[in-house]
Amino acid sequence: MTTFQIDSEDLPTNDSANEHIQTIVARAVSRRGFLKMGGGAAAASFLVGPLSGCASLGNTSRALLGFRAVAASTADTVTVAEGYTATPFVPWGTPLFTSGAGATWKGDGSESAADQARQVGDNHDGMHFLPIDGRSSSEGLLVMNHEYTTVVKGQYITLFGLPAAQANTAQRVNKAINAWGCSVIHIRKNANGQWTVVTDSAYNRRLTGATPMELTGPAAGDVLLRTSADASGRRVLGTLNNCGNGFTPWGTYLTCEENFNNNFGTTIEPQIDGRTPAQKRYGITAGSSEYGWETLHARFDYKKEPNESNRFGWIVEIDPFDPLSAPKKRTALGRFKHESAAWNFTKDKRVVVYMGDDQANDYVYKFVSDKPYVEGNKAANSTLLDSGKLYVARFDNGTVSGDFMGTGEWLLLDKEANPLLKADASFPNQAAVLIHARLAADKLGATKMDRPEWVTVHPVTGEVYGTMTNNSGRTATDDANPRDKNVYGQIVRWREAGGDAASTRFQWDIFVLAGNPTAAGHAGTLKAGSRNINADNTFNSPDGLAFDSFGRLWIETDGNYGNSGDFANQGNNCMLCADPATREIRRFLVGPRECEVTGIAFTPDHRTLFVNIQHPGETGQGNSHWPEGGNALPRSATVIVTKNDGGVIGT
Ligand code: FEO
Ligand code: CA
Ligand code: CA
Repeated sequence: MTTFQIDSEDLPTNDSANEHIQTIVARAVSRRGFLKMGGGAAAASFLVGPLSGCASLGNTSRALLGFRAVAASTADTVTVAEGYTATPFVPWGTPLFTSGAGATWKGDGSESAADQARQVGDNHDGMHFLPIDGRSSSEGLLVMNHEYTTVVKGQYITLFGLPAAQANTAQRVNKAINAWGCSVIHIRKNANGQWTVVTDSAYNRRLTGATPMELTGPAAGDVLLRTSADASGRRVLGTLNNCGNGFTPWGTYLTCEENFNNNFGTTIEPQIDGRTPAQKRYGITAGSSEYGWETLHARFDYKKEPNESNRFGWIVEIDPFDPLSAPKKRTALGRFKHESAAWNFTKDKRVVVYMGDDQANDYVYKFVSDKPYVEGNKAANSTLLDSGKLYVARFDNGTVSGDFMGTGEWLLLDKEANPLLKADASFPNQAAVLIHARLAADKLGATKMDRPEWVTVHPVTGEVYGTMTNNSGRTATDDANPRDKNVYGQIVRWREAGGDAASTRFQWDIFVLAGNPTAAGHAGTLKAGSRNINADNTFNSPDGLAFDSFGRLWIETDGNYGNSGDFANQGNNCMLCADPATREIRRFLVGPRECEVTGIAFTPDHRTLFVNIQHPGETGQGNSHWPEGGNALPRSATVIVTKNDGGVIGT
């Protein structure tokens, strides 16, 4: 989602009294193995001085970053490191089938809702490549999210062409519903080594805001999930606001439902706020929604169907290799504004999923399955995300405050096992705890973070890195969220106690405090960022985040591209690469104007990188015509990045 305008996720809905630094009494928790310096020295070396290889986490001996850094750019193109090539691929509207509705892209946005349901969706986001045979690097299923369609002042800016052509209400709503969701795209390298879409493949599939799906797990069937159209509380139409993603070791795709609150509103006395406290905490629109879907479909009217919004905000598991399967909304993983999902194994092979809730002052969560993963048993593994424990994170300052590190605890969101929830009648059962996970987490004293976006797990150490994108409204600070009016964001990383992802305790530090040392007056302040930020790599608002198999940390930004003031010399949104051991960060790719750079997927050989460019030209002022150029309609699209010598990406 853009940060250019005011986004709903910038506005905190968390008015709980959970702690900030000023009120935290340093908890006496052991700090085994973390940085060995005292607070003052640690803080000083974190902020200034040359980089060295002595960081406490992720030590490796080999140089990971082999490319020359790219300069910031404001050009309306994708710029990539010298020796690499970036090629646009599967833009919004790409036909997946050669006959029937949507078989051609007309170029002006005049396709109908029915056409859109058979073409690649809009605003590409999280993405994963699943090899066709489990290991191929030349054929597979590219699965991606389509987060939303861009609206400026109530007008879709590209969905019906630019300037926005008029369409009737049914077309406006239903085409948008069909432009959201996910695409499963069968792709293959041709004889020339170029990636192509296998049109008409049985795997090609669009999952939209109207595709039938199932609710599974502990909350499925609960009274809070029942509607007039679904007395079972188990059947939902559609997935929405599919932002970041995850995948599983058993070959399925996880799509994460984020800003679903924006799709609900009311036509009944919209001047009167009829929301429940839970609907307010989840940010449901009080009056008329910006998208206006409630004007056509009663289920998006929270006064008519108060439970419909409870059926969004989940992590949805999709099996792309079974095109007839219904996606499963996994309620055991909790309901919030899911950004992404990253898995790891516990020591006894249970599955852990780390997750962020992208709202100013919201939380970081993890799920631990009850049952272990069984290699090769897809049927057994297909129920792993239906039973387990859900936790929310408290990031403590540790024994020293002001040193950008500390300790933490995972707080159990369980109606029976947690006395605080057991005693609270507002949660009648575990279903209520999961459906209203934010409110349950409020009760437990989770730490209010700076908009948790993506999470990723280091492939060797198991350390978890998470982007906290920004929080310009922050006033009270703590060690994990150390700046007020935080316009730049930071990456926080944590290590589970005993190296076991099942642990309920962890240690953490800030890997990078993004900032801008080139902006006037920033030198010597936290606004300059940590010592691994300099004039060459300055950026704001880290969002997409993923380790590759070699341990390179890829960072994507969705921030302010104004290129002036606090954001001077930062250019368009971009993709950077970091070495976790040395903390060095280099810019690798710059997106076109007014885009977000998001989605990270590699072929198994790491010689193809897929990146998504979301909403180029999102202001609707004609500042981007990417990817076609000229006067073409700007289109979200994937970019295929290859190294000209055929080598591994990042070397
Ligand atoms: Fe859809 Fe939080 O980014
Ligand atoms: Ca500390
Ligand atoms: Ca995002």
